[in-house]
Amino acid sequence: MAELLAAELTRVARLLDAQSPGDIDLVDAGAGGGDLLAGVLAMSEPTLVSRTQATAIDFRAAPEGYLARHLDRPVADGTARWAGGRTEHGPLIARWRRGDARVECPPTRGLIVAHELLDDVPCDVAVLRHEGWRYLAVDLAGDEVVDGPVEPSDARWLQRWAGDARLADRVEIGRPRDEIAVALASHLTCGRLIIIDYATSADQRRRLHPDGTLTGYRNGHQCRPRPDGTMNLTAHVAIDSVVEALSSVGHVRLGTVADAADRHLAESHGSSAGPDGGHGLSVLPFAERMRWARVRDLGSWGGFAWLSLDRWDTGGT
Ligand SMILES: C[S@@+](CC[C@H](N)C(=O)[O-])C[C@H]1O[C@@H](n2cnc3c(N)ncnc32)[C@H](O)[C@@H]1O
Repeated sequence: MAELLAAELTRVARLLDAQSPGDIDLVDAGAGGGDLLAGVLAMSEPTLVSRTQATAIDFRAAPEGYLARHLDRPVADGTARWAGGRTEHGPLIARWRRGDARVECPPTRGLIVAHELLDDVPCDVAVLRHEGWRYLAVDLAGDEVVDGPVEPSDARWLQRWAGDARLADRVEIGRPRDEIAVALASHLTCGRLIIIDYATSADQRRRLHPDGTLTGYRNGHQCRPRPDGTMNLTAHVAIDSVVEALSSVGHVRLGTVADAADRHLAESHGSSAGPDGGHGLSVLPFAERMRWARVRDLGSWGGFAWLSLDRWDTGGT
């Protein structure tokens, strides 16, 4: 999946570059292990890479040897040895910024990507009682108690995005995710912000997730959420709220990873009709065809939200 994601982001980087040639910024916000950024650079043409200012941002430090392996600046003769033994020009600038992406994101003329960042941003959980919305408090064992009334700003968010909740419904308050999305967009001087994440709409939250979506992951396995530092805690992103928050900043489009996969397929295989209607999938080798089918599964990875915010109109790419 990571390879297909990097391929589509590389296509977008090329489009942005064609739209506005010159040096281009490529920012991976919440980069984790930095694989996505490295993947896009590995797939881009040397002429594009050599004009790219690549930035990975995360609370975590860069993996050992990461910059040297993937992003190192060109050595004196203008070449650098890349992962996989490929000898190419390195990016113009490469850096790993350790800290909060809201602050560390550089002014960006190009592409900012936040892949599974927003669902990682901590948020409060509220429960609807007869007396109104109350915060839930939790101990290290994961046991919860109903706490005090929600702050006015959270009450407004809940009224807007969970206004039809029923008694005892639990809702994760998406305000901190809206805020980080707007903060990232504020660093975009020209180009595109892409947010890819697990997401829900208000309707899905009410119908499918009356108990919320908060969960824990330990060693890749889902487990009961306990805020004791032993697991990754995550909750789906209220994407409708993020869209509205970003609408004041620029032109927002919301789709799914499956849509992005279709765009990539149509572009790379020359089919404008897409994989179902045209001959796109039929021309692929079997294994690649199976991979694309998985990536387009709306019940799985294909259902991830793919939100694009443009600071100028790139013609619906
Ligand atoms: C689920 S991981 C995703 C990593 C990577 N984007 C990927 O797709 O593999 C989320 C990452 O976001 C980072 N993160 C969360 N909030 C952040 C923030 N405000 N600023 C920078 N990094 C953040 C976490 O440290 C974690 O590495």
